[in-house]
Amino acid sequence: MTTRILTGITTTGTPHLGNYAGAIRPAIVASRDPQADSFYFLADYHALIKCDDPLRIQRSRLEIAATWLACGLDPERATFYRQSDIPEIPELTWLLTCVAGKGLLNRAHAYKASVDKNLENGEDPDAGVTMGLFSYPILMAADILMFNAHKVPVGRDQIQHVEMARDIGQRFNHLFGAGKELFTLPEAVIEEGVATLPGLDGRKMSKSYDNTIPLFGSARQLKDAIARIVTDSRAPGEPKDPDNSHLFTLYQGFATPTQQAAFRDELLSGLAWGEAKQRLFQLLDDELGEARERYHALVERPSDLEDILLAGAAKARRTATPFLEQLRESVGLRSFRSQAQGPAGGRKKAAKGARFVSFRERDGSFHFRLLAADGEELLLSRAFADPKAAGAASQRVVEEGADALDLRAGANRFALWLDGELLAQSPAYADASQRDAGMARLREALASLAA
Ligand code: TRP
Repeated sequence: MTTRILTGITTTGTPHLGNYAGAIRPAIVASRDPQADSFYFLADYHALIKCDDPLRIQRSRLEIAATWLACGLDPERATFYRQSDIPEIPELTWLLTCVAGKGLLNRAHAYKASVDKNLENGEDPDAGVTMGLFSYPILMAADILMFNAHKVPVGRDQIQHVEMARDIGQRFNHLFGAGKELFTLPEAVIEEGVATLPGLDGRKMSKSYDNTIPLFGSARQLKDAIARIVTDSRAPGEPKDPDNSHLFTLYQGFATPTQQAAFRDELLSGLAWGEAKQRLFQLLDDELGEARERYHALVERPSDLEDILLAGAAKARRTATPFLEQLRESVGLRSFRSQAQGPAGGRKKAAKGARFVSFRERDGSFHFRLLAADGEELLLSRAFADPKAAGAASQRVVEEGADALDLRAGANRFALWLDGELLAQSPAYADASQRDAGMARLREALASLAA
């Protein structure tokens, strides 16, 4: 059983070294685990909540996409896409909005922080609060529940949102699951082992402190940023204290234990800060130099990036589209055609365009349905390990012909057996006479397919 890991990256801003060490690098390493099925996406709908500058949104999406690919994310292995390319996500957001308690969302940190700030300033509590900000956790719940993620790696500030996704998913399961788990309930994972890098001034590296080191600037920009790292005023030759130097902490984020020990010794024996900065530059340049070239090559070919992301969206939608269809059904948004009708429905003519449709379940198994010409479901097959086997079985049913089939009636449904094995079942009917009418429509459908 694989674990589905999903995380979103809000597309405001340009990734810096702290994002790389804290999120990008560990996520890419995790995506290489053969047990992992990774879904990583650009949360560009979320970006619209915080940013109303279209150029910045566009730039940031491109830069972040290029960064993840340049750092080694394999889009064949992971599913890498833009949130805004998956129309099922806003649609699911609405289904979830209708079950999410307003009281639950009142407690969301980001919203509460805005309200508190307004109150402090003597303003209306909701001044400047959009419905986007207020509903932010529901959109995030849709991101997560859409793909039935088991694990959601996030920063501490996002744990509450993942818990809200659990709450909302649980409520939906309870209301509409009819005893089945429609949604997997996700768990937040906080990567304890990963480095939280200090910025130039020693506080946590963060855009809001303006103390970041750019990830893929030129070598020159990297050098300039490193030159601005604050150190104490010990002169060359004076011993430096590695444990009180954030320059050393930064170095540790990228060095092997042997390199770390050597650097520590050098500092203790009086290495000049200028030299120490040169060592850090060399280390970072070795780790990032090739990725930087890949990054610039990708950014210069935006249409290649577009292709990669659209392929990722198509892959994600192979899961999202049928699942959303199931969710719509579960809340009552169903085709009128699938409504059970009385036996007198003028079905004879309708059976002309009966057809098999095959699909893949969330657990990876394949199934087919036999639909009557009007879309009514006549049969649903058992699970097959691969689509070929499912196709071959449906082919056999047609070849055997309606009369040779082993149809077995149960109380309010019937089953189709082939070679002594249960192959497919009808839906449940209201009573035995409807069941028999359904069987008759199945024979008609098969006759039309054989013709
Ligand atoms: N809100 C997250 C952040 O700001 C980004 C995000 C959006 C996300 N959707 C998600 C993270 C789904 C994990 C899962 O960091």
